[in-house]
Amino acid sequence: MNLKQAAAEKAVEYIKDGMIVGLGTGSTAYFAIRRIAERVKEGLKLRAVASSRHSEELAREWGIPLVSFSEIEAIDVTIDGADEADGEANLIKGGGGALLREKILAHHSRRMIVIVDESKRVERLGAFPLPVEIVPFAENLTLRSLKELGTEPVLREKDGELFRTDNGNLIADCRFGVIADAAELERRLNLIPGVVENGLFVRMAHTVVTGCAGGRVTIQDYI
Ligand code: 5RP
Repeated sequence: MNLKQAAAEKAVEYIKDGMIVGLGTGSTAYFAIRRIAERVKEGLKLRAVASSRHSEELAREWGIPLVSFSEIEAIDVTIDGADEADGEANLIKGGGGALLREKILAHHSRRMIVIVDESKRVERLGAFPLPVEIVPFAENLTLRSLKELGTEPVLREKDGELFRTDNGNLIADCRFGVIADAAELERRLNLIPGVVENGLFVRMAHTVVTGCAGGRVTIQDYI
């Protein structure tokens, strides 16, 4: 079995009857959504809230009952991928551009389960460029402020055009080198007017499920 699939399917075991479940975005979350759909067909009762239009479409197509953000007060379990995960529950997310909705789900989740293959496990965050969601109407000013933090932001493109998030915003991919203090960088990024959200999820993972070569799956709990 694919390593991402192995991690995703293990994480789905945490879902119990009656839960509200946050659906992540990306190729690893895809396997979780698919497995959740199978369990719903087998009789599991749940309601799901999706972190992106794409995940919402998958859920709808596969018969997972959906609710919107405005209909819920908390989420029991969110299962989502990551671009990097360190050993202290810190993540870089947003490779798929869904970081804002993903972070809202993670923040309000009783348990945030991160599913990764072993290539995403790192000592220190920072090899993956940090996605920063910015408003489109003040892009130059916002990019200038980002540069003052010591990065050369690159506006993300898709199919030769500027990439737009589900919220209509842009993504600036920012290399900061090794991120020694993720909490401080997150604070400074969120102080910039024009930054909507950034992909640093500081101590937000409650559980990290890692698919490893040879079919082994490891579980780290941080709560
Ligand atoms: C989307 C994300 C994804 O979880 C992250 O990019 C990992 O994706 P994949 O599972 O495809 O490697 O943060 O915004």
